[in-house]
Amino acid sequence: MISKEIENKLAGGSLIRKMFDEGTRLKKIYGEDKVFDFSIGNPDLEPPKEVKDAIRELADADIPGMHGYMANAGYPETRKAIADQLSKESGLSIGIESICMSCGAASGMNNLLRSIMDPDDEIILLAPFFLEYLNYISNVKAKPVIVNTDPDTFLPVLSEIEKAITPKTKAIIINSPNNPSGAIYPESVLKELNALLLKQDHVIHVISDEPYKDLAYDGMTVPSTLSCFDNLIVCFSWSKSLSLPGERIGYTCVSPKHADFSQLTAAIVLCNRILGSVNAPAFFQRVVAKALTAKVDVANYERRRNLLYSIITEAGFTCTKPQGALYIFMKTPIEDNAFCEVCAKYNVLVVPGSAFKREGYVRLAFCVSEKTILGSKDAFESIAKELGLKK
Ligand SMILES: Cc1ncc(COP(=O)(O)O)c(C=O)c1O
Repeated sequence: MISKEIENKLAGGSLIRKMFDEGTRLKKIYGEDKVFDFSIGNPDLEPPKEVKDAIRELADADIPGMHGYMANAGYPETRKAIADQLSKESGLSIGIESICMSCGAASGMNNLLRSIMDPDDEIILLAPFFLEYLNYISNVKAKPVIVNTDPDTFLPVLSEIEKAITPKTKAIIINSPNNPSGAIYPESVLKELNALLLKQDHVIHVISDEPYKDLAYDGMTVPSTLSCFDNLIVCFSWSKSLSLPGERIGYTCVSPKHADFSQLTAAIVLCNRILGSVNAPAFFQRVVAKALTAKVDVANYERRRNLLYSIITEAGFTCTKPQGALYIFMKTPIEDNAFCEVCAKYNVLVVPGSAFKREGYVRLAFCVSEKTILGSKDAFESIAKELGLKK
């Protein structure tokens, strides 16, 4: 017998996975080039040359003990290089103690939630959000409190956040550039949110989930959260910035301004061990340290965003142009699950907004080939026609 909770989760399944499986089924029937699968956010660019060079160099290096256990926080050299880079970006003086290497942002967040949340503590989530947060939160038996962002800009609405705060609120998760909306939170909004949180009579941790930090378009820069918040913990990964999701490499960084700095940094390192990661992958800790300034070809993603945005808006659909990340969050003219079914009739696969706790929208991942994007034009026009958006 398995646990009741996991039994329920298994029965629920993942909507994104379901769409992915439907895509595989349709491709078998109609052929790869007749199915337009925008369901999965798997970064499809190759890692940059600096990463591949570092991999080759390190594979030949034969450093004694390089595959052995290490301190649970990770290699001091890698942590130092990251701390220096973040100090430069934020203007703060960030030391190696702030950094704990993790198995991607997912593991960093689990380490952090285990460190700070007691059962029944509340954590604020801004919808739409990455649904895995709910699993991470249920791992620590805490309670999610969902607050909607603005329906057009997808920016946090501070008055709504203020209403959701209770004496049990322990943390808030922010994610900018955002999955699924692509919104980038401006510095002014981050600073106002910080002021609101500092006004409360207990510490509220700000968890900034930043795997899309390096994917910003139209020359935009993503404001440094470290320079905007006090009680902040950044969860970063190179899954998207360097196209390394399978290598499971990232870090958490506790702000030196955090009220619980010493205890919290120690707790995260302990949780990295007791949750079973023990330490982040040794080889890739060395690789990322050598490729810290490298980035995937962001212009390539931007081109594909522009292409897909033009196709859907010209077909008559409404959406806010995403400023970053890998997704367009488009308004649906009918209920979102029903809309996905209409799309599937035309071999177009998208994920309903309900999968991100925001109904009335669908998410389209544009990290697919230009051929797929261009090929979907007729299908989107037919969908718009069927739903009466176009004559
Ligand atoms: C918003 C968000 N947070 C976290 C993750 C997990 O990333 P990682 O591969 O670094 O664990 C993802 C992955 O898609 C994501 O979209």
